[in-house]
Amino acid sequence: MILQTPRLELRKLTADDYHDLAEILQDPETMYAYEGAFSDQEVQDWLDRQLERYHRDGIGLWAAVLRNTNIMVGQVGLTYQPVPFSDGHTENWVEIGYLLKRKYWHQGYATEAALGCQKYAFEILHCDCVCSIIRDTNISSQRVAQRGGMTVVHRFVKHYRGVIMPHLVYRITKEEYQAQNCSGQNPVKSL
Ligand SMILES: CC(C)(COP(=O)(O)OP(=O)(O)OC[C@H]1O[C@@H](n2cnc3c(N)ncnc32)[C@H](O)[C@@H]1OP(=O)(O)O)[C@@H](O)C(=O)NCCC(=O)NCCS
Repeated sequence: MILQTPRLELRKLTADDYHDLAEILQDPETMYAYEGAFSDQEVQDWLDRQLERYHRDGIGLWAAVLRNTNIMVGQVGLTYQPVPFSDGHTENWVEIGYLLKRKYWHQGYATEAALGCQKYAFEILHCDCVCSIIRDTNISSQRVAQRGGMTVVHRFVKHYRGVIMPHLVYRITKEEYQAQNCSGQNPVKSL
């Protein structure tokens, strides 16, 4: 297990999680920000990419399961993502990412798991900041970032599946995270 929150455990994905991942990645509504549902091969490639990330980076998207069960509500975790700047340089930032099965939306699970990932990033990995890179049209995802105390610090355009997608970079620094926890505003304190 990687971390626990009040209702969830985050653990590494395994080959056995293919069908749970497909429930997320092949749902057209869930995948609207990615321009549509994935094929079987794209699901397998996604899973393989996470396993490679665990090996190479020590982090990746993890399975978010209900505590003391193996019922997967979604995938939430930390990955290194390139953030390009207008002067031509690119920085690799640690990103919190989250995708939930649709039946588990609107219950606070994404925010709870994202806060757990903030705690892990700042207290275990000792990151200076973490971000969430979110398509400008993806309002529910932006609300998760905002509830986690993140603010927009940068914008850039991604080209994905032949589509031009403006993205916002939400970020929280270690100082902001510490201030949030000291003021008792962040439930991550009680994890
Ligand atoms: C992004 C995504 C994970 C957000 O899911 P979500 O359900 O909106 O977010 P949460 O799980 O944090 O739930 C928050 C909601 O639960 C409500 N809630 C209910 N019970 C709650 C509880 N016990 N604690 C906290 N919030 C609770 C909140 O009020 C909030 O309500 P709202 O949906 O009306 O704003 C989901 O929309 C998704 O999987 N989208 C597709 C994938 C995607 O786009 N990922 C992001 C790529 S950048």
